[in-house]
Amino acid sequence: MKIIITGAGGQLGKELVEALITREGKERVFPFTKEQLDITNREQIQRLFAEIEPNVVINCAAFTSVDVCEEEVEKAYVVNGIGPYYLGMEANKYKAKFIHISTDYVFSGDQSLPYKEDDLTNPHTIYGKSKLLGEELLLRNCSDLLIIRTSWLYGHEGKNFVNTMIELSKKMSSLKVVCDQVGSPTYTKDVAIAILSLMSDKTGIYHVTNSGACSWYEFAKEIMKQINSSVEVISIGSEEYVYKTPRPSYSVLSTDRLNQSGINLRNWESALLDYLKKEYDSHHAN
Ligand SMILES: NC(=O)c1ccc[n+]([C@@H]2O[C@H](COP(=O)([O-])OP(=O)(O)OC[C@H]3O[C@@H](n4cnc5c(N)ncnc54)[C@H](OP(=O)(O)O)[C@@H]3O)[C@@H](O)[C@H]2O)c1
Repeated sequence: MKIIITGAGGQLGKELVEALITREGKERVFPFTKEQLDITNREQIQRLFAEIEPNVVINCAAFTSVDVCEEEVEKAYVVNGIGPYYLGMEANKYKAKFIHISTDYVFSGDQSLPYKEDDLTNPHTIYGKSKLLGEELLLRNCSDLLIIRTSWLYGHEGKNFVNTMIELSKKMSSLKVVCDQVGSPTYTKDVAIAILSLMSDKTGIYHVTNSGACSWYEFAKEIMKQINSSVEVISIGSEEYVYKTPRPSYSVLSTDRLNQSGINLRNWESALLDYLKKEYDSHHAN
């Protein structure tokens, strides 16, 4: 089986490539970073797909900066909406399964119960709207489609909340973190494992996150606890933090559908512990 991975230089892309290579299955993996394959370049996609004739395509490429998306609106829609559509259309030609990664930001965040896959979408940000466009174009046009929505992702070498908090804790004696936005922190490694389990026979939309939920404040407290830092974490409200783009206040995704298919991801605290251990090991190996 031949698997193309786009956005292979990103947090989740890297993790998926590693998971596929280490499991030593029968798959042949074809990873492409942005420099190697720009998903907004249709001719380039057509050429590469004709060479490889993939059986599966996993799209991890995206324009993920929520604030920059507000400034570069056209680029957001092209990368997060049109690019996935080009990939999906090309996957159809080869009867390949297309796996697309999406986000909790397709929801408004105004709810107080975990969002189910079929709940009404209503994004408030350009990032969320552009990701929803990608989902909708694919749902209408792609024949063998699996959409994975995830949230609050962190992975090795990525620009993410965990790495930011650790860096800040080296320079500051206290950190102010918002307590009124709630979500499920999710380790890329666990999403990669779930994707590989769902890959062969699942279609439609699946929510994939670590279990449990917390606020950013609770997440930061747990990070400091696990790295044995004495830095004080101070709880603040969103009104005290100047956001360029307002964030959803409730981002928890229901994983009932995932659980019913026999996959239960560990809780976010255990996943964080594993992530930090791997980070520690890799820094001390060098
Ligand atoms: N990060 C989160 O908290 C989060 C939460 C929920 C869902 N998601 C979704 O999960 C997926 C993976 O996210 P991630 O955290 O791994 O993101 P990431 O680290 O930003 O990786 C995305 C990758 O896509 C690349 N890319 C951007 N434009 C491209 C283009 N035109 N063609 C090809 N590649 C392009 C980026 O390259 P450059 O960096 O060089 O631009 C980057 O390497 C995305 O679909 C994202 O929307 C993420």
